[in-house]
Amino acid sequence: MWALCMAALVLISITHWVYRWRNPKCNGELPPGSMGLPLLGESLQFFTPTTSSDIPPFIKKRMQRYGPIFKTSLVGRQLIVSTDPDFNHYIFQQDDKLFLSWYPDTFKEVMGKENMGTLYGYIHKYVKNMVFDLVGPESLKRMLPEIEQEMEKKLQQWSCQDITELKDECANLIFDLNAKKLISYDSKTSSDNLRENFDEFIRGLISFPLGIPGTAYHKCLQGRKRAMRVLQNLLQERRGKSRQQPIDFFDYLIEESDKEGTLMTDEISLDLIFLLLFASFETTSTAITLAVKLLSDHPRALEQLTEEHEMILKQRENSDSGLTWKEYKSMTFTLQSINETIRLANIVPGIFRKAATDINYKGYTIPAGWGVMVCPPAVHMNPETYDDPLAFNPWRWEGMQIHTASRNFMAFGGGMRFCAGADSAKVHMAVFLHCLVTKYRWEAIRGGNIVRTPGLQFPEGFHIRMKEKDSSNRKQPISLET
Ligand code: HEM
Ligand SMILES: *[C@@H]1O[C@H](CO)[C@@H](O)[C@H](O)[C@H]1NC(C)=O
Repeated sequence: MWALCMAALVLISITHWVYRWRNPKCNGELPPGSMGLPLLGESLQFFTPTTSSDIPPFIKKRMQRYGPIFKTSLVGRQLIVSTDPDFNHYIFQQDDKLFLSWYPDTFKEVMGKENMGTLYGYIHKYVKNMVFDLVGPESLKRMLPEIEQEMEKKLQQWSCQDITELKDECANLIFDLNAKKLISYDSKTSSDNLRENFDEFIRGLISFPLGIPGTAYHKCLQGRKRAMRVLQNLLQERRGKSRQQPIDFFDYLIEESDKEGTLMTDEISLDLIFLLLFASFETTSTAITLAVKLLSDHPRALEQLTEEHEMILKQRENSDSGLTWKEYKSMTFTLQSINETIRLANIVPGIFRKAATDINYKGYTIPAGWGVMVCPPAVHMNPETYDDPLAFNPWRWEGMQIHTASRNFMAFGGGMRFCAGADSAKVHMAVFLHCLVTKYRWEAIRGGNIVRTPGLQFPEGFHIRMKEKDSSNRKQPISLET
């Protein structure tokens, strides 16, 4: 009898718990949607890999069933998904007010508890200004010659080898360029392969928080530990030395944190360097690889792009002088192609926030504490904004009305947390394309297929064969002796 009572009690509590799971409490009306299975939510559907560039099937199906704003549960969190341009805009405008920056626990574990995404208000602004000094337009102007030289050197090397795997090579190239500015890291002389530590990040950042060996999340954590050890040792080393002039961004941060009354701490510095090391190379190298892949598949666009860059060389007084900022700004078709690549890439599949209080929007209530995910792919693949959205069509950006830009283009986010590296990514892409199309021809050999988990990946990489262009139309030393 007693056992029976217990069993009944357990059954009732489970039923109640499942009921509560499916029907969360809310002082108003929650958006429609399904909370999925207890604990698991709809995570399995969300993480199902897809190979298309369209709106992920998980999102698309629910948009059709529930409309542009719906509820779900992912990695143990109650979440509102927004595919609504107005609501997205509202969320970005209300950043740090009604909505707070929030990322899944896995993300925080891997990126650090003091990473830029967790900083609010004044300290966030303060750190962001420092990042702007590092990767903003002014700094990029100064770095242009160095970026061009490094890229020329690398492309020359690749053209001498049979086959080049573009994704990995670009990742190394961009990583080295940024790591040098950040911590004076040189992969050729360093004993640590720092870059390797970030290998599994795209798969592990937003995932189930299971620290089981073999999972992407576990590999992420291991990578984080190793990279942080390198950075911590470096910090010790720097602190031990008497400093003269700061030699890199790390020195600059240390100097800031040594000032009286400063808000900077070692934790913030270390997490910032770590975040920048990762954010800078993985995103940009993916975008470059996709750009080259798309140009390989669209000869007409490649032709026009090549003409634009050959024209830049022709119009120079001295064709050997390096790229100037003015020339960069004049690359209209290139910048359109870059926009189009980034639109199709959807490198960041979701931007996360949480509701600071109960929020009412269009008749719905989002309870305090719930997560909110802005979904850029839904905006970028909307056929009402982008005609034939799956097509690579750089010409669509011609005369595109930009005042609606922030609503229709959010690859770099929006509002006060707008990507600090947007200019950096574009400059690196443009200079790379410049070096590539003015000097080289290439053919795609293998790979180049994409998978989204939901982060964008090239599972087999992208293997190309590069050759220097027929040099007959370039100046050559001609012997005049007879
Ligand atoms: C195609 C390349 C890139 C894409 C698509 C991209 C995308 C994004 C997005 C969507 C955000 C907003 C996150 C949020 O609102 O929570 C962001 C923030 C950020 N990105 Fe990027 N990013 C790219 C390249 C870079 C590069 C090259 C760097 C560094 C050099 C960088 C550094 C940052 C930083 C520091 C933030 C945080 C800004 C803040 O919290 O105020 N990103 N990025
Ligand atoms: C690329 O997109 C951004 C954001 O929408 C816009 O401001 C810029 O004008 C676009 N560039 C070109 C060349 O279309």
